[in-house]
Amino acid sequence: MDNNQRKLDYEERKRAYYANQRKAAAAAVDEKRRKQCYLIASVLTAAVIFCIVAAIVISTLFSGGGKTTSYTIKIGGEKSEATTENGKILINLDKLISLLELQKTGIASNPKYTCRGGDSIEFENGSRTAKITVSGMTSQSAASMPLAARANSEGCFVSLDTVSGVFSGITVTVNKSNISIARKTVAGSETRFENVSILNKSGDPLSRVLYLTEIMKEYEQYINPADRDAYLILASKENVLGENYVPPELVDLTGLVTELDVDKSIVNFGAPNTEMDKYAAYALVAMLLDMRAEEYLNIVAQSGYRTYTYQENLFEKYIKQEMENDTSLTREEAKAIVLTYSAAPGTSEHQTGLCIDLMDTRTNRFEPMENPFTTELGMQWLDENAWKYGFILRYPEGKEDVTGYSYESWHFRYVGRYHAERISALGITLDEYLKLINK
Ligand code: DAL
Ligand code: ZN
Repeated sequence: MDNNQRKLDYEERKRAYYANQRKAAAAAVDEKRRKQCYLIASVLTAAVIFCIVAAIVISTLFSGGGKTTSYTIKIGGEKSEATTENGKILINLDKLISLLELQKTGIASNPKYTCRGGDSIEFENGSRTAKITVSGMTSQSAASMPLAARANSEGCFVSLDTVSGVFSGITVTVNKSNISIARKTVAGSETRFENVSILNKSGDPLSRVLYLTEIMKEYEQYINPADRDAYLILASKENVLGENYVPPELVDLTGLVTELDVDKSIVNFGAPNTEMDKYAAYALVAMLLDMRAEEYLNIVAQSGYRTYTYQENLFEKYIKQEMENDTSLTREEAKAIVLTYSAAPGTSEHQTGLCIDLMDTRTNRFEPMENPFTTELGMQWLDENAWKYGFILRYPEGKEDVTGYSYESWHFRYVGRYHAERISALGITLDEYLKLINK
């Protein structure tokens, strides 16, 4: 059995997984509940321990054992002062108005700051939640902050984490007693000033912000493409690509990691579909290198671009296997089952070259198949960080009716950071997002 299992190729394992999943579904419900309770209890315990440890570390680092520390802060060219509260550095947003070209409206205890592009963020005195409205969108979302905002006639005081996590287009550097906030981004060798907009996220550790703006700068042009709407192509049951669709510029990931001379372990060199759209490929390399830097050593790129013919053969193979597994099935019944997890030829997103299936090498399986919610395998990291590299989870759990497919926690779709951050923050699918922005 084990040997046979090993012989099954990647696609067959996937089909076998779905078959097993359906059989086990009923029995799994109770087990899942039990595990979820256990998981919630463990997560809560871990969270409490983490908070206690973090509070101790942070207060030691920043507060000198409970004392308030003062920082000299340089905002653009101007010097000012920042203090700490509960180990967090506090900044008066009113001091950032001219640097970030914000417009302040509302009342002192409930101010709203609007960026030049129209994105806005609204604070309420004493509240840890900020309301965010992204320009051109009707729905609002909330960012939770590590500290409650203090909004009064002197200004609106929020944590530095909130500033660095919420506003994009700025760089924030912190030294022992100096902080500098500047509005400058580096793209390749060129330094340019960009519009500041709202990043609909909060609580980003500062180190990650710096990592993204400095270390990853050579990948930035691909992660955040100048032609930001060029990667929104929809491939779905309704939006058929057809037999003749071929992506304009494909690169092979195996060649790319060799050419860039980066960690080659991020790609499965033996896999049959390692080509991807050029922009998606660079962004993926950046994301997987970042995962490696965070000690997620086993997540690899497995399946990217698939031709129409490859998908056609795959789809047919799945139908045949379903019928072999259950001989009472008609071809139409088998096809209906396959359509819940595999796209008919001409409708697969894999034919766009903009998506990737990730795999965990320790299990030699798609990671969600072993344990969908494990943090160890990197799912949580991807959930929190994929948007920064321009990727979204394309077939989320609970959205099967919208996407038309079962939950696929391994399938990530490149759309570029601008749209990925909005899709991820709004918690919607690409299908819903494209309707929302009328694309
Ligand atoms: N598994 C996805 C839906 C595909 O076949 O494209
Ligand atoms: Zn896929």
